[in-house]
Amino acid sequence: MSGRKTINDFLSEDLIDITQLLTLVLGQNKEQLYTYSNYELTNKELNKLDELIQHRQNGKPFAYLSGSQGFYHLDFKVSPATLIPRPETELLIDIAVELFRPNQKIHALDLGTGSGVIAITLADKCPAWQLSATDQSNDALKIAKLNATRKIDFYCCNWFKTLPNKKFDLIISNPPYIAENDPHLKDLQFEPTEALISGKDGLDDIRTIIKLAPQYLNLGGYILLEHGYNQKIEITNLLVNSFTNIKTYKDYNGVDRAILAQYS
Ligand SMILES: C[S@@+](CC[C@H](N)C(=O)[O-])C[C@H]1O[C@@H](n2cnc3c(N)ncnc32)[C@H](O)[C@@H]1O
Repeated sequence: MSGRKTINDFLSEDLIDITQLLTLVLGQNKEQLYTYSNYELTNKELNKLDELIQHRQNGKPFAYLSGSQGFYHLDFKVSPATLIPRPETELLIDIAVELFRPNQKIHALDLGTGSGVIAITLADKCPAWQLSATDQSNDALKIAKLNATRKIDFYCCNWFKTLPNKKFDLIISNPPYIAENDPHLKDLQFEPTEALISGKDGLDDIRTIIKLAPQYLNLGGYILLEHGYNQKIEITNLLVNSFTNIKTYKDYNGVDRAILAQYS
């Protein structure tokens, strides 16, 4: 007996995400961990595990340690340059796929694509849709390009700024929408602030997108936005000038989360 710690020793400790951290270090799935629970970790594995436990205890999200996060039916690479995709954002996919048929040749634009989850999931589910995606972060776009499973036109720009002169049938975005003094920001310190914060009331970027979107939409085209729990009324007021058929949606927690409107 070497006296080194076994998988079972770690599993019986009260350590945050220890099962997932063990799967990461040992390259085994959960079932294998339980099957081989008497396995003694090597020094190298112990050092790696210690390092990950420290990171996790300091609040670093597991997705940044593993480098990936599931979204809808796909797995996406993430990095500290990208937001970690949230399950709430899957609502945008559900709404978008009801607007057009998967085999319809439409043009859709994902603004602030981050790791690419929205554009890539839509491209995967709707083979005839032509997707474009923008982000102002080159580092985020590098990750989105690695995640892409089929052709998407990526642009590094400030919202619409350097897009080609082209119109879309759908503009979809999960933009930054947190107010700069929001107390929840302290729990999000590992994610890029440019992906989260949008001025005093969290609406600066949504105001810009709504103002510019009509120039880039075909008549009858849609804008679909994710937003914060308390922003539905203000965003509706911003939309009424240029858009009709405004619909609002709650997420699976019953919280106001998305808004759809038609350019007409
Ligand atoms: C809330 S994150 C959403 C990321 C991804 N779409 C998702 O749902 O996981 C917002 C994204 O918008 C990008 N962004 C922020 N300001 C921008 C701007 N002015 N122009 C383009 N992209 C911007 C950020 O870099 C970030 O990737």
